[in-house]
Amino acid sequence: MSQLKTISLSHLDNVPSSPGKFKSDKPLTYIHRLRFHSSVSKLTLWLALFLALLVFFFFLSPPSPSPPPRRSLGSWGGSRWEKRIRTSARVRSRSSSTVLVTGAAGFVGTHVSLALKRRGDGVIGLDNFNEYYDTKLKRARQEMLDQAGVFVVEGDINDRELLNKLFDVVPFTHVMHLAAQAGVRYAMQNPASYVHSNIAGFVNLLEVCKSANPQPAIVWASSSSVYGLNSKVPFSEKDRTDQPASLYAASKKAGEEIAHTYNHIYGLSITGLRFFTVYGPWGRPDMAYFFFTEDILKGKEITIYEGSDHISVARDFTYIDDIVKGCVSALDSAKKSTGSGGKKKGSAQFRIFNLGNTSPVPVTKLVNILEKLLKVKAKKKFLPLPRNGDVKFTHANISLAQRDLGYKPTTDLETGLKKFVKWYIRYYKGSKRSSW
Ligand SMILES: NC(=O)c1ccc[n+]([C@@H]2O[C@H](COP(=O)([O-])OP(=O)(O)OC[C@H]3O[C@@H](n4cnc5c(N)ncnc54)[C@H](O)[C@@H]3O)[C@@H](O)[C@H]2O)c1
Repeated sequence: MSQLKTISLSHLDNVPSSPGKFKSDKPLTYIHRLRFHSSVSKLTLWLALFLALLVFFFFLSPPSPSPPPRRSLGSWGGSRWEKRIRTSARVRSRSSSTVLVTGAAGFVGTHVSLALKRRGDGVIGLDNFNEYYDTKLKRARQEMLDQAGVFVVEGDINDRELLNKLFDVVPFTHVMHLAAQAGVRYAMQNPASYVHSNIAGFVNLLEVCKSANPQPAIVWASSSSVYGLNSKVPFSEKDRTDQPASLYAASKKAGEEIAHTYNHIYGLSITGLRFFTVYGPWGRPDMAYFFFTEDILKGKEITIYEGSDHISVARDFTYIDDIVKGCVSALDSAKKSTGSGGKKKGSAQFRIFNLGNTSPVPVTKLVNILEKLLKVKAKKKFLPLPRNGDVKFTHANISLAQRDLGYKPTTDLETGLKKFVKWYIRYYKGSKRSSW
């Protein structure tokens, strides 16, 4: 810059200070012109260099759109790390499965991992511990899993090298894929995180599974939100799913189509489970039953959404233990993948099941139950349901899961919420979070 400045100033030095003082001396003018031209070409050269530098630094700088919520991931690899993986993957009997559980530090992932470990399966967890919600809760779940003998690897499902390494160390028989960017409304705030985890991450995982030898059978979490604006009740697997009401729903629907493609081309055995509003201990703080509990205890106002007819939004709330049973049955009844090393050898199993409770409950009733359990009256505000991704109601038809998985939910909302509230009070007692 300083050189540039000098050049432009020296160039100005050669220009007469005022037209009146300009001398009509030919040879001198010619020399001036020569000097002037050489200065201009130098200036052009430096300007070009300067611009090139600007372009270079522009491409070096990070892109502006907000990245998905991620934190720097722990290191992996090394003999101690591999030993932990092998120990965690150890099975109790020859008939047991060896399962990679993605999203293991999440709500459903923790419960499924514990259930599998308890019955003697080898389990390795994988989670990127992103900051979508309180990471302390994810760490506490990780600690509980660690005590139960489940090692949760800190990593992202987009990390191909890490996934390949895991498959090198352990020949997984099954993958229980639960890692995802959840939440319907957050999709308007951070759409990239849904593409990162639910689409790109899923494809990356399937790429690794397809090339693994042996290929694992895959069971993964889709969502009831794929039914979107469908108004035919109860929602059956045969109903239309082409009217998603949120990017989250669209990403899960895309996942179902992507899963079909990998089943069709590579012979991967794939089962998709459409969960209906799962709740229970160690649940997700972004879900209504969880933050209503927190707000009611703090004396804060809660918002209840209503449809245009003033009817409260209703959900087919499903207790976590029922969902876990459905996941385990789906793993147990999954047939083997037919391909190996990326080549299909025959047609493979492809299934989709609703896992719900078959009894939708209005959110007003959920609040009444919470008031009774917490012994505190809620301050309620009623608002029309905004068009930000939520649908008015969900209701699962579970006959297919009943027939093929022996799935039979047994916990009603009051019983399940009682267990949640008991856990919530014990977990947050004495922590800074609760001021009650
Ligand atoms: N809980 C529900 O009501 C519900 C309903 C329908 C569908 N589902 C689906 O079930 C699955 C589990 O849901 P949950 O309620 O346990 O959610 P959760 O957010 O508690 O668990 C998901 C976990 O995945 C991890 N994760 C996200 N992106 C990742 C990535 N790229 N790499 C590695 N880890 C990543 C997160 O850190 C989190 O711990 C999700 O696929 C969700 O979409 C849940």
